[in-house]
Amino acid sequence: MAATGLRFDGRVVLVTGAGGGLGRAYALAFAERGASVVVNDLGGDFKGYGKSSSAADKVVDEIRAKGGRAVPNYDSVEDGEKLVKAALEAFGRIDIVINNAGILRDRSFVRISDEDWDVIHRIHLRGSFLVTRAAWNHMKNQKFGRIIMTSSAAGIYGNFGQANYSAAKLGLLGLANTIAIEGRKYNIHCNTIAPTAGSRLTQTVMPQDLVDAFKPEYVSPLVVWLCHESCAENGSLFEVGAGWIGKLRWERSLGAIVRGKNQPMTPEAVRDKWEKVCDFDNASKPRTIQESISVLSDALSQIESQGNVSMNSTSSGSVVSSSVDTASIVGRKLGTNVYKYTHLEPILYALGVGMSTKDPDHLKFLFEGSEEFCCLPSFGVIPAQTSMFDGVPSLSGLNIDLARMLHGEQYLELYKPLPTSGELRSVATVADILDKGSGAVLLIDVNTYCGKDLVCYNQFSLFFVGAGGFGGKRTSEKAKVNPHIRPPPSLFLQAALYRLSGDWNPLHVDPSFAALGGFEKPILHGLCTFGFAARNVLKQFANNDVNRFKAIKVRFAKPVYPGETLQTEMWKEGNRIHFQTKIKETGEVAIAGGYVDIVPALEKPSARELLMTKGLQSNLVFEEIGRRVKEMGNELVKKVNAVFQWDITKDGKTAMQWTIDLKNGSGAVYKGPARNSADTTFTLSDEDFMDVVQQKINPQKAFFSGKLKVKGNIMLSQKLEMILKDYAKL
Ligand code: NAI
Repeated sequence: MAATGLRFDGRVVLVTGAGGGLGRAYALAFAERGASVVVNDLGGDFKGYGKSSSAADKVVDEIRAKGGRAVPNYDSVEDGEKLVKAALEAFGRIDIVINNAGILRDRSFVRISDEDWDVIHRIHLRGSFLVTRAAWNHMKNQKFGRIIMTSSAAGIYGNFGQANYSAAKLGLLGLANTIAIEGRKYNIHCNTIAPTAGSRLTQTVMPQDLVDAFKPEYVSPLVVWLCHESCAENGSLFEVGAGWIGKLRWERSLGAIVRGKNQPMTPEAVRDKWEKVCDFDNASKPRTIQESISVLSDALSQIESQGNVSMNSTSSGSVVSSSVDTASIVGRKLGTNVYKYTHLEPILYALGVGMSTKDPDHLKFLFEGSEEFCCLPSFGVIPAQTSMFDGVPSLSGLNIDLARMLHGEQYLELYKPLPTSGELRSVATVADILDKGSGAVLLIDVNTYCGKDLVCYNQFSLFFVGAGGFGGKRTSEKAKVNPHIRPPPSLFLQAALYRLSGDWNPLHVDPSFAALGGFEKPILHGLCTFGFAARNVLKQFANNDVNRFKAIKVRFAKPVYPGETLQTEMWKEGNRIHFQTKIKETGEVAIAGGYVDIVPALEKPSARELLMTKGLQSNLVFEEIGRRVKEMGNELVKKVNAVFQWDITKDGKTAMQWTIDLKNGSGAVYKGPARNSADTTFTLSDEDFMDVVQQKINPQKAFFSGKLKVKGNIMLSQKLEMILKDYAKL
């Protein structure tokens, strides 16, 4: 009779009410899988009258006939201790308790007698309590226990004529919930099932063909699994029957705050907010009492913060309540957005951030016929922003009113110059959610692709006023940090034009909407100020060469009103240009702690250098690696996560530098030193490089013989094989 798979050899199982129906099926299933079983049954009728030993005996005989181990017990579950004692006496331990015994005393509510109420509670609820309590210390000491409570759909949903039974059955769920918490640290798990099966109990309410179809054997495998030592499930509720199993959980509407600061709460306010109270859109699914209660402290802090909401950025408005289920929000994909554009959009954008044809330098951003026509790097925020706004309002757990969202910070990193027209696909995900007390911060990562190539990455940091206080963390390792804001050691404007680039928020153009958000007049888009600053840095420090613009980070500190003059103060430290953008008229800082990372300009090679590099064989290999990285860069970046710089020498002098970047974006191979910094730098001659690649000499040998010099993280060189090995046959 042995069944393989989930085994219970050496385990002792007590099944109450195992003389028939579901209990019998459990007893047989456990015995078949090697458990020793105590078959308990009082042997009365389905209403709980009478008693007999025959029910339990029959099942014990069945088990023994199949070669299993079982003993009978005829006590009522009201004598819980005795049942456990039977297990200890017969088998020396108790591992698993299946609380299954049960009777019915169905009556319409008002006709329920005291006795019918009490007996149902005594058998179902109190009986399960007594049996479980008797087994508890044994389970605790042996650091193993599995307990099943048997609830019922009648308890979960209610059923006519079963008020006593429904109450007791849902009582069992409450009991199980707490036992699951208290037992966790001792490896005692308790789960609850609400079965449907044909039995003598259901014969009274179900047609015979259903009784026959809903076999107890379609329930018992769930119970067996839940009780196995390898099953981690704890504190859960399942409906099961007919070979189907479903798990249940609580869902709670986002609810509504129905009182104001220093105001009484009135039934009328409750009535007026009723729809919202009962609105299950974006509902949360609290799993613990802590999660459940957090919404209340959140509500308190929101009520308290009413009236002193400070607006410090580009968008404004009202944030409503939230019970923030961070686990379900972080990592959520918000949306994928395809941004199709022609040369018109980059030109509009350039105009929107204050470029003009008066400046000959600006022509390449404003005239598609220019030989050097290109996109301003900061245009990279435009395709990204739509993908983000698409998904944010529907985040469950956050009740978002975009009119009360503040754009806190922005980070943009470019991996390739942006195409001047075409189709860009942006994928937005929630990187993290932070609790700043007065509000919640959503960090949203947006990767923008042209075909398969990652062209840029944005991180939006959005502040939701009043949604904090949910007990979340204040900082995130995923946040792109601002450097220390340092004192600076070199200005403009137009909102109506900028919005043509795609941010249609009326806050930036409509005075009445701005007033709603608490602003005297429409404010400029934060990302417009951002574009101005980016453009100034690009001109001052990169000679408007878009290839040299690597990344930008800003914090929006104060709103800017159209008509004000922006003044960007910039200073250079290494390849990083720090800047802050001030409002000239007021002296206030609108963008704080900004920086732009600039890639050093490639020196134009001298004629001699050109001659030197021409004959280099290694160039061919790097170009080939470059093609490979284009094809499968994403994968390699995941595996390697390092930047390798190669200094290739000829006649003892550096003739060429190459960088294989398998750390950033979807990887890149380019001539020249690493744009940020290299993890490992290799120096070797062109000939030796070819020997290594063709495996004529292995890298270790080249290293020890001094042919190959390695600087930086030498361990990472092991990963090189992944890139180089396929070139042996070149
Ligand atoms: P059943 O009547 O076939 O089995 C219950 C067993 O418990 C009987 O053998 C009975 O003698 C025994 N029992 C009753 N009082 C006892 C006591 N004081 N001490 C020890 N044993 C006692 O009924 P069925 O359907 O197998 O029910 C098993 C459990 O599943 C019950 O708790 C029932 O409430 C629950 N349930 C069953 C559903 C179904 O569709 N069959 C639906 C929802 C819940």
